[in-house]
Amino acid sequence: MSGSGREAGAERDSDGVSPVGPELRSGTARELFRQLTGGAEAGVWSAPGRVNLIGEHTDYNEGFVLPFAIDRRTEVAAAPRTDGVLRVVSTFGGEPVSLPVADLVRAHAGGELRGWSAYPLGVAWALGEFGADLAALPGADLAIDSTVPVGAGLSSSAAIESAVALALTELWGLAHSRETLAKVGQRAENDAVGAPTGIMDQSASLLGRLDAAVFLDCRSLAAEVVPLGFAEAGLVLRVIDTGVRHEHATGGYRERRASCEAGAAALGVPALRDLEPGDLDRARKLLDDITFRRVRHVVTEDRRVLDTVRTLRADGAAAIGPLLDASHVSMRDDFEISVPELDVAVESARAAGALGARMTGGGFGGAAIALAPADAVAAISEAVELAFAARGFAPPTQFTVVPSDGAHRDS
Ligand code: GLA
Repeated sequence: MSGSGREAGAERDSDGVSPVGPELRSGTARELFRQLTGGAEAGVWSAPGRVNLIGEHTDYNEGFVLPFAIDRRTEVAAAPRTDGVLRVVSTFGGEPVSLPVADLVRAHAGGELRGWSAYPLGVAWALGEFGADLAALPGADLAIDSTVPVGAGLSSSAAIESAVALALTELWGLAHSRETLAKVGQRAENDAVGAPTGIMDQSASLLGRLDAAVFLDCRSLAAEVVPLGFAEAGLVLRVIDTGVRHEHATGGYRERRASCEAGAAALGVPALRDLEPGDLDRARKLLDDITFRRVRHVVTEDRRVLDTVRTLRADGAAAIGPLLDASHVSMRDDFEISVPELDVAVESARAAGALGARMTGGGFGGAAIALAPADAVAAISEAVELAFAARGFAPPTQFTVVPSDGAHRDS
């Protein structure tokens, strides 16, 4: 790798704001890197977004989830520097940002990690929280590009965090395991970005495998790969992005999490994971109606994840439809995180031949998923379009996702 371009870049950007104009922020991560530094990257790393097949709002309740990594990825072209500065630029964010790595703790404490760069810079900060000696690191240039839609509930943020975490770990010769990198990404999301999310998305992005889901116990963090076999079964997984955008740093997500914690405390358990369906009668007597329904969603959703894993192994993917449907009903009626667009997507896809459908991700917008026979896809797309138009909703974006490999080095 040649250092001359990067050295010049380091001088230009020593005030922390690159003079490079907005025309820079297009093209691939590699092109962006070359435009930023004038030199070649040391490597390109990528990490996927995810679809959660089932297990919603169970991760922060220390329960079970079953997500898979998708064929939409964030790419990071990167190289180490020699001056201890970390410089980040992306095709989707604002101005390039740079900061001495040794200043990250101070910048984080002062609330200076903001906007899109809070993701990559937050990851670098969080590597320090998990043992890296930030003051001793050489710095790096990172150029980031992504094909994961933002705000669709497909974990565009975890894809950035996981790709950056893997790139920096390898560039800086750190020894963090993938399980630790998932915690690093979650810490960045919780403490630098400010969204109180669980460990699911980063785990899916880092541990995903081709044609398989990640069955994760969010208490022990034990992960198993569960083959999905969609293609052999003649099935596809459709995403219906409603275009309704959510914001996890505020609002409903935080409230739902607080209700779950209040429910667990009132019932005297460390987390809702510790309740069985048989405990729900007692819960109904002790809790107010809203908290009870939040608890019931989580307790029954944990069972549905276990049932889905069992069904996938015993009978294959074509048999899991009713579990997906039941999950959606529980989120709509008990957890109350669906929106009319998601309900219409689920109902119209089901009516047109999907085997099962549910909203995926944190809720309050984003995407639904529909498991469908490949030959029903055209009819489902049309039915969903028509149903949205009939309700006066903006047209949704529909596409197929393929269960894919997790984060890796591409070159
Ligand atoms: C978001 C969060 C996850 C998880 C889901 C809901 O995607 O990032 O940690 O809580 O919502 O299942």
